[in-house]
Amino acid sequence: MTKDFRFPDNFLWGTATSAYQIEGSPTADGAGRSIWHRFSHTPGNTWLDQTGDIACDHYRRYKDDVAIMAELGTNAYRFSVSWGRIYPEGIGAVNKKGIDFYSRLVDELLKRGIKPNVTLYHWDLPETLDDRGGWLNRDIAEWFCDYAVTMWEALGDRVEMWSTLNEPWVITDGGYLSGVLAPGHSNLFEAPIAAHNLLRAHGLAVDRFRSTSAAKTGKIGITVNLEPKYPASQSPEDLEATRRADAYMNRQYLDPIFKGTYPGELREIFGEAWPDWPEEDMRQISQPIDFLGINYYTRKVERYHPDFLPLKTKHVPQPESFMTDTHWEVYPAALTRVLEWVSQQYGKPPIYITENGAAYYDPPQAIDGKIEDPLRVEYFRQHLRAVHDALRQGVDLRGYYAWSLLDNYEWSHGYSKRFGLVHVDYATQKRTIKSSGRYYASVIGSKGEILSK
Ligand code: BGC
Repeated sequence: MTKDFRFPDNFLWGTATSAYQIEGSPTADGAGRSIWHRFSHTPGNTWLDQTGDIACDHYRRYKDDVAIMAELGTNAYRFSVSWGRIYPEGIGAVNKKGIDFYSRLVDELLKRGIKPNVTLYHWDLPETLDDRGGWLNRDIAEWFCDYAVTMWEALGDRVEMWSTLNEPWVITDGGYLSGVLAPGHSNLFEAPIAAHNLLRAHGLAVDRFRSTSAAKTGKIGITVNLEPKYPASQSPEDLEATRRADAYMNRQYLDPIFKGTYPGELREIFGEAWPDWPEEDMRQISQPIDFLGINYYTRKVERYHPDFLPLKTKHVPQPESFMTDTHWEVYPAALTRVLEWVSQQYGKPPIYITENGAAYYDPPQAIDGKIEDPLRVEYFRQHLRAVHDALRQGVDLRGYYAWSLLDNYEWSHGYSKRFGLVHVDYATQKRTIKSSGRYYASVIGSKGEILSK
C-alpha cells in the first residue's frame, strides 16, 4: 500500500540562511566587525582563507532572493540578524541603517506572503564583545537582551517567530573546545562556561520578551542541532559511551531549557572543569518557550575509546552508507526517531525543523543553464518522508525549513561545500534553481503528496 504523505494545510514550508553566510558587505552602512570577520581574515582558519566579505551579496540582492523564495512557493523564511549591524560596538549606540536593512527585508517577505522567522544569534558575535570575554563573560546575557529588545521594538509589529540562538552546541564545541570555529579557542574549562552563558542569555531573553509588545502576536523559541547517537555494540562500554555522547551534544541544552537541570554525565565528561551553577541560573534558563527549532543533518554511531577525551568515544564510520560532501551519513530514520524522542522527553513542544539539507558536489557553473543535483533531491525526498512519519506518530510538527536557500559560505569550509537549493555562481552572483529546488517546489505545491512517488 502506498503511504499518504499529505501535510496539513497550515504547515510552514521554508528555507533557511544565516547573516554571515550570505549577506556580504559585513561592515557596510556603519556595521561593526564580528568574530567571524576576524576569524576568517586570520590566515589558516578557513579553506583557502576565504571570508564572508562578499558571500552571496544578499545584503544588496535581497529582493531578488525573496523573489526566488516566492518562485519556489515557500511560505516561510528563517534568517538571522547580524548583531554588529544593529550595535556596531555590541552595546551602546544603535545603528539605524542596520535595522533598516532587516526592516526592508521583512517588508519584502510579507509582500510575497512569506512568514519571517528571525534568529537573533547565528554565530557572528560583535568583535568588541569578544574583546570583553564574549560568551565567557556573564554580562553577555544582559548585552544580548538589550540587543534582542531593540529588535523586538523594531520588527515585533511584523515578525511573529523569534529564535534566540542557533545551535549553542556548535557555538561551544567549535568555538571553545575544538577551536575550528570563531573565536577559535580550545579550552576544556571554557566550554561549559560558554554553554552556560549562552543558555542564560537565552533564558533571560525569553523572560524579557514576555513584557514587550512583540509578545502580543509573537512566539519565541530556540534552535538546537540534534544528532541521535547509536551504540556500535551492546557492550556496557559502548552503551555508556553513547550515553555520554548524547548527554554532551543533545541533552546538555535541552535538559536545562525544559527541565532546569544539566545531565549528570556532564560532570563525568568535564571532570574538574565542570562548575557548580547557582540554582537561580537554572531557573532563569528554564523559562517556558513557545516552540523548539531542531536542525537535523545526520546521526553518529559511537564506540568506547579511552584515548578520545573528554567523551571517551570514537565515531564509527559506516562504509556501506551514503555520505554527503561533509562526510555526514545519510540516515533519515534518525530524524523520525529524534523527533519522537524530543516529543516524549520534553512534554510535546511545538517543533519546527529549522534546518535540514546536504552538501554535495555541484559544478561551479550551470551547464546549459541547468544544475542537476539528483543526490540532493533524494536526500530531501527521504528526509521529508521521515518528517511525515513523525507527524503521523503524533509529533506536534509545524514546519520545515530546508538548508539552504542558496549555496553559501560554509564557515571554515569557505565556499567549498554547496548546500543550496539554488546554485550561486560566485564569480557573477548568478542564481540558478537546481533540480532539488524544483523538487522542493513540487513537494510544497502538492502539500507533500508527491513524496509517495
Ligand atoms: C548551521 C549552518 C551550517 C549548516 C551546515 C548548521 O550547523 O546552523 O550555519 O551551514 O549546519 O553545516
